Amino acid sequence: MPPSLEASSALGGASTTNGPSQPVVALGTQSRLPEFALTGKVVLVSGGARGLGLTQAEALLEAGAIVYALDRLEEPSPDFGRIQKRATDELNTKLEYRRIDVRDTENLNKIITEIADQEGRMDGLVAAAGIQQETTALEYTAKDANTMFDVNVTGVFMTSQAVAKQMIRFGTGGSIVMIASMSGTIANRGLICPAYNASKAAVIQLGRNLASEWGMHGIRVNTISPGYIVTAMVEQLFVEFPERQVEWPKQNMLGRLSKPNEYRGAAVFLISDASSFMTGSDLRMDGGHAAW
Ligand SMILES: NC(=O)c1ccc[n+]([C@@H]2O[C@H](COP(=O)([O-])OP(=O)(O)OC[C@H]3O[C@@H](n4cnc5c(N)ncnc54)[C@H](O)[C@@H]3O)[C@@H](O)[C@H]2O)c1
Repeated sequence: MPPSLEASSALGGASTTNGPSQPVVALGTQSRLPEFALTGKVVLVSGGARGLGLTQAEALLEAGAIVYALDRLEEPSPDFGRIQKRATDELNTKLEYRRIDVRDTENLNKIITEIADQEGRMDGLVAAAGIQQETTALEYTAKDANTMFDVNVTGVFMTSQAVAKQMIRFGTGGSIVMIASMSGTIANRGLICPAYNASKAAVIQLGRNLASEWGMHGIRVNTISPGYIVTAMVEQLFVEFPERQVEWPKQNMLGRLSKPNEYRGAAVFLISDASSFMTGSDLRMDGGHAAW
């Protein structure tokens, strides 16, 4: 659907906040970078109950998308409610929550099919659900390693597969973004996560392979590799290991750590037509950490 004035309304432009007589100035409208508009598009965000997934979900909503967050948490974080209200009241769209563990492939497919049936389309996925575990390689158990790969690799794979099946059913193509990490490219100094890092390398490689198989259906698949992001969990880690707060920023070229909102633009860029010729790529956003 071509971006229209509807896009400006979803972005808080002329017809909602400023009144009908105001000029349209929002990005993602007919006259300003229309290829970034996501008006009316249906996008799923796994791991969208909190953290990076929720931050990116809000950016997708601001660009006009209808967003469904999928997460295993019984209740999403308190921020979720605020963003959900904002979506309806200010952005002229909606944010919905579906509780699902991405390891439960049967229910994952059931829920994703239901969403597609209900909305009549399926345009995008940000697969952000993931877990992390710090354990040395000599101490890692097979059970823990399998859990890591089950969530971070198979879970991401099966979520993408379920979404791709719907995109192929509608014949519309779409865009899939999988959240990897700079740890899929480098081994972190002073952070011992052998299975996590291997899982993120697998996500990057999975992205290339899914892109190669699904390009013929008009489905693009890319990964984002963030550097260290200061989330609530990382802040807690700094209380336990205060030296990390000093050492980690020194390991990249910008000399600081990132915030979740620094990945908003990347989500909108990759899900939207602004990246229409981009597939099979990894967008590394790590302050130059892995370039050194
Ligand atoms: N925080 C960082 O520094 C950092 C850096 C690079 C990449 N990442 C990646 O970004 C993504 C988001 O991480 P975050 O920092 O926001 O962490 P987070 O723990 O706040 O968010 C992850 C979300 O995934 C959900 N989740 C976990 N396992 C699940 C499962 N089996 N089924 C469904 N949902 C599940 C969690 O409930 C949570 O809401 C992850 O893939 C992570 O590996 C994070």
